Amino acid sequence: MSRIVIKNGCIIDPARKTATVGDLVLENNRVREVIELAMAPDSYGDDVEFIDASGCFVTPGFIDIHTHLREPGFEGKETIATGMDAAVRGGYTTICPMPNTNPSLDSAPLIRQQFDIAARHGPIHVLPIGAVTLGREGKVLAPLVELAEAGAHGFSDDGSPVWDAHIMRQALLYSKMTGRPVMNHCEDLSIVRGAPMNEGAVATRLGLSGWPAAGEEVMIARDIALAEETGGRLHICHVSTAGGVELIRAAKARGVRVTGEVTPHHLTMTDRWVLGSMEPWDGKGPYDPSQLAPYDTRTRVSPPLRTSEDVAALIAGLRDGTIDAVATDHAPHTHVDKECEYGFASPGFTGLELALPMVLTLVQTMQIDIVELISRMTIGPAAIIDVLPISLGPNDPATLTIFDPAAIWKVTPEALASKGKNSPLMGQEMRGQVMLTMMEGQIVYRREQFGESSRREHGGAVGKLSGVFDEEE
Ligand code: DOR
Ligand code: ZN
Repeated sequence: MSRIVIKNGCIIDPARKTATVGDLVLENNRVREVIELAMAPDSYGDDVEFIDASGCFVTPGFIDIHTHLREPGFEGKETIATGMDAAVRGGYTTICPMPNTNPSLDSAPLIRQQFDIAARHGPIHVLPIGAVTLGREGKVLAPLVELAEAGAHGFSDDGSPVWDAHIMRQALLYSKMTGRPVMNHCEDLSIVRGAPMNEGAVATRLGLSGWPAAGEEVMIARDIALAEETGGRLHICHVSTAGGVELIRAAKARGVRVTGEVTPHHLTMTDRWVLGSMEPWDGKGPYDPSQLAPYDTRTRVSPPLRTSEDVAALIAGLRDGTIDAVATDHAPHTHVDKECEYGFASPGFTGLELALPMVLTLVQTMQIDIVELISRMTIGPAAIIDVLPISLGPNDPATLTIFDPAAIWKVTPEALASKGKNSPLMGQEMRGQVMLTMMEGQIVYRREQFGESSRREHGGAVGKLSGVFDEEE
């Protein structure tokens, strides 16, 4: 019998909506019990491994339903192996690679190959998303039942929208048959026309063509109408506009089977980053604005960074459950893909290793509660791809993440395991770091000698969260 006791952490169980300071006792790779600090025994007997989690949070392993791993076809940007390494460093124990590979994941053997390659590299769950159409061309429906039988956990042409409404309707009908959601990248190509940034005053000033909010909302509205009519399962990828949140909110209220996700960047950055300023953080931490210049291609992402009103609406949607999940849209690209004019740069941010500190800024500024946030990184996404239950209760698998909300680290190319170094946060100091990731009792990532000796920290994990940016002013 193997026993591990994770001591003195703040254990968050989003399924039970609890945060308990105390010990998490693991036995034979499963949770045995959670013991509150005051009730913890002086000794757990012999043959026990201790991990000191003082000042840290202990949560279920994070789940990312929107990850780009680039294999096969674009291994220079990322491989399944390097993506998995980045995942565990970011606290993720389940990731869902998107099918915009080459060839795209539009057949059962290609889906099975993802599982095979991942299994050779490590034990975390890599649950691929199959393409909606052959070659992601939007013209011919892929064999969705076969893809689901091979293990695809959802369907998407991400990177591109399912622009043909008839095909979208067919896919939604198949989603009922397979129980897997259609995850659409909502972008009306006839409105967006390849524009590289949000439409508005900033785009005008920079002389870049704009992607209006309507370019996203028109397709969200269409898809909701189709989901309502078919009864299919619709998931909206990377919602980025206030109007998009409102469409999903209203649809959910009518009982439409729709879910939504939001990225860490759309929750914490605006289109002013393209101008070289760092709204909403300008002048009040946590970032150093001297590291960013106008037209920095690392700010190009699809959908684009929007306005502060959109950011506020996304946070409100995440809090009230309109948005079910935080998803990274981890989009690794090479230096060459970004070293060009703004309009030619490949869109996307490296995300797996930066997601946690980015979204923790929302907790630190008291815009969302930590238990709610963790819920959107665990049980929220789990429900979308149907991998429940996720919890840290008795007999649940010991699949968990331990992070220190106050640890400070600098984003450098060397600090990231991902091949993708493309982030406008390069060079910044981040607050919050994953210390240990465990998959079914096995430690798959551990930072240095974390937890090996008693750290005797002042204050618990919760105390470290509040008002951190005010203090520094
Ligand atoms: O910014 C993005 N990058 N958005 C997408 O939809 C696709 C992704 C990619 O694959 O690089
Ligand atoms: Zn997308």
